[in-house]
Amino acid sequence: MKISGKTKVACLIGHPVEHSFSPYIHNFLAKEYNVDLRYTCFDVNPTDVKEALQGIKALGIIGSNVTIPHKIEVIPYLDEVERNAAIIGSVNTIKNHEGRLIGYNTDGVGFIKSVLDEGHILKDKHVMVLGAGGASRAVVVALAAHGVGKITICNNTLEKAESLAENVRSNFEEVEVNVMPLAVTSKDLKDVNFLINTTPLGMSSKKDLMPIDQNIVPPSDLVVCDIVYTPHDTKLLKWAMQRQLKVVHGIGMLINQAIASFEIWTGLEIDAYEKVYEILEL
Ligand SMILES: NC(=O)c1ccc[n+]([C@@H]2O[C@H](COP(=O)([O-])OP(=O)(O)OC[C@H]3O[C@@H](n4cnc5c(N)ncnc54)[C@H](OP(=O)(O)O)[C@@H]3O)[C@@H](O)[C@H]2O)c1
Repeated sequence: MKISGKTKVACLIGHPVEHSFSPYIHNFLAKEYNVDLRYTCFDVNPTDVKEALQGIKALGIIGSNVTIPHKIEVIPYLDEVERNAAIIGSVNTIKNHEGRLIGYNTDGVGFIKSVLDEGHILKDKHVMVLGAGGASRAVVVALAAHGVGKITICNNTLEKAESLAENVRSNFEEVEVNVMPLAVTSKDLKDVNFLINTTPLGMSSKKDLMPIDQNIVPPSDLVVCDIVYTPHDTKLLKWAMQRQLKVVHGIGMLINQAIASFEIWTGLEIDAYEKVYEILEL
């Protein structure tokens, strides 16, 4: 579809943005679904976030993704923030709805979808989440909203884990939330159904590391998920596969959060996971 006077624009704002996969995904989806839309990236200096959002309104940009370091900083300049994004305290997607900017967070729902797509059931299950940073907040809130039974958050900085746990307890009373240091033993894993890494351990320069001791003996039905997606098979996932455990790769969260953003902007229902997976060539 050729660019014309009617072509709409969506974008990413972040700092830096050069390495983003989002332009590949969204421009592919626009073409695939015949949407007259182009997606581009803007490197926005942290001092210019307010002006960038005013620009989205002024230019009629239909929506935006938001990445590090602006996911929290954009919030005061939005007209509305969806409930779970407000609980998470960060926004990765903005929809320009008739001049009103509405904030969403699709990271957590993207993660949940990646697990459900593999045929797993999360409802009422015990999930252990390693890490309590930005991505963990999105994942933990989405897990609670989805209806898991129990969440154990493990982190080196315990105060961060406790603050996330308290946030979830106060918003989702039916979910049991515990915290512990990032020093998991075989005993700790005894009744855990899903183990989810949200730390950067295993990622590119840290690819020889994993967030748990490799001598741990896991339960035979443990599902191991890693949100790190480069490399595709992290050390943790290799460890799990060697033990015949089911695994969920981080690429699923990456693709599904993007698809969820595209659905929010366009109102379309997108069924293109496999095709997007192929074009990313990760
Ligand atoms: N698949 C996806 O779509 C997707 C989306 C978002 C993020 N991610 C990935 O998720 C990872 C985390 O991102 P983030 O934004 O949440 O980062 P973050 O906010 O910096 O949080 C990092 C977390 O990992 C812990 N951590 C960091 N280095 C550690 C170490 N050496 N040993 C033990 N714990 C350590 C931190 O613990 P302390 O609190 O103790 O410092 C913190 O809990 C990154 O690799 C990112 O690429 C993937």
